[in-house]
This record gives sequence, structure tokens and C-alpha cells, in this order.
Amino acid sequence: MKIKIAPSILSADFSCLDKEIKKVEDAGADMLHIDIMDGHFVPNITIGPVVVKHIRKVTKLPLDVHLMIENPQDFIDSFVSAGSNMITVHIETISKEKIKLLKEKLKSRGVKLGVSLNPDTPLAKIKGVLDLVDLVLVMSVSPGFSGQSFIKKCVPKIKELRSIFSGDIAVDGGINLESAKLTIKAGANILAAGSYIFGSKDVKSAVERIRNAG
Ligand code: DX5
Ligand code: ZN
Repeated sequence: MKIKIAPSILSADFSCLDKEIKKVEDAGADMLHIDIMDGHFVPNITIGPVVVKHIRKVTKLPLDVHLMIENPQDFIDSFVSAGSNMITVHIETISKEKIKLLKEKLKSRGVKLGVSLNPDTPLAKIKGVLDLVDLVLVMSVSPGFSGQSFIKKCVPKIKELRSIFSGDIAVDGGINLESAKLTIKAGANILAAGSYIFGSKDVKSAVERIRNAG
């Protein structure tokens, strides 16, 4: 599978977000990872649909929206209208029945659906929804902040997931050269990376380095 890179704008300079986005777009990023946090599901607050709507105007990259919020189903319409191309919800925040409803809604709007799970959440929790989703986002840090260290126990989780799921497997948190290698080898094909990319002097080579790390 082709390895796709999803720079997480949580590590970007928000005072010049358009330039930061242009930078990763020029560097060959495949999509833009946008972290939405509500201060309830995670101990941090970021942005909402209003900002996503404006991001939509400055880039052609697919918008990969990672919802770290409670009651995600209540906000789906706003994020779809804002121009999201993929929306990922956390299994810790939503029932299988509601995921089914989301799937129908997103399918009719041409938006992909992802499910994410925290480092401490076992794979068994998402097994019942794998046939409903296009993507699984495996968290390799506790969600809430960029710049944390990669949690290695997600590697066997990715490996097991790849043996039962043929869709996209994304990994999110603490991605650098070393963890990119481990996760690509385990079967991940999308790397969401914040500080490694935006913290690099040469963004283009950072993108290339992790893409080719496996
Ligand atoms: C963490 C976010 C991640 C984060 C990644 O809650 O979901 O997307 O921004 O940042 P790094 O790559 O710095 O760990
Ligand atoms: Zn994320």
C-alpha cells in the first residue's frame, strides 16, 4: 500500500496557518490532519467547524478531521458542511448503532468515516464496527497534545488489525523516523505527524523521510 502522510496542524503556527498549510502541501503531504478537541473527552481545546471552513478555502488537500469530542454525532453536519473529506470518531465516545447512522449520512455526502481508539482501548472494542468504516486511526499517544512520546504497545495492535482489516490504517502520535518504520512494518499506511513535520527545518525532506521509513 502507498504510504500517505497527514501533517497534523496542531503543531503548526496558527498565526499564519495558511502559509503553514501551503508549506506541507508543497512538501507532498497527502492530506491535512485536523485535531478537534473539546476539553471534555481530552484535556485540551482546539478549534471547531468555523476554522475548518476557512482552512477549506486555502487548500486542495483532503481534510482529515479527527474528532476528540464527546457526542460526536451532534457535530457531524457542521464538519461535513465545513468541507471535511474524512471524519474520524473515537470508539470511546459513541455506540455501534450511532456509528451505523453516521456511516449512512457520510456515505450520502461522499465523506469517509474513520474510527479511532486510545492506546488503552483494546482492539476488541472496534471489531464490531470494522465493516462500517473506511479507516481506523490507532492512537499511539494519549490524545490531547502534540509532542508526546510514541507508545510502543500500539505496534502489535496495528499488526493484528492489519490481519483482519484491509482498509486504511492510520497511526497518530509520536511519529518520527523510528516509530514510522515500526508502524509501517506493522501495516499502517497513513502516518499523522505533527511536531516531526512542523518542527523540522526542511519540511519536504521530513515528509519524505517518514514516508520511506518502512
Ligand atoms: C494528539 C493528536 C495528534 C497530534 C500529533 O491528540 O491527535 O494528531 O497532533 O502530534 P505529534 O506528531 O507531535 O505527536
Ligand atoms: Zn490527531
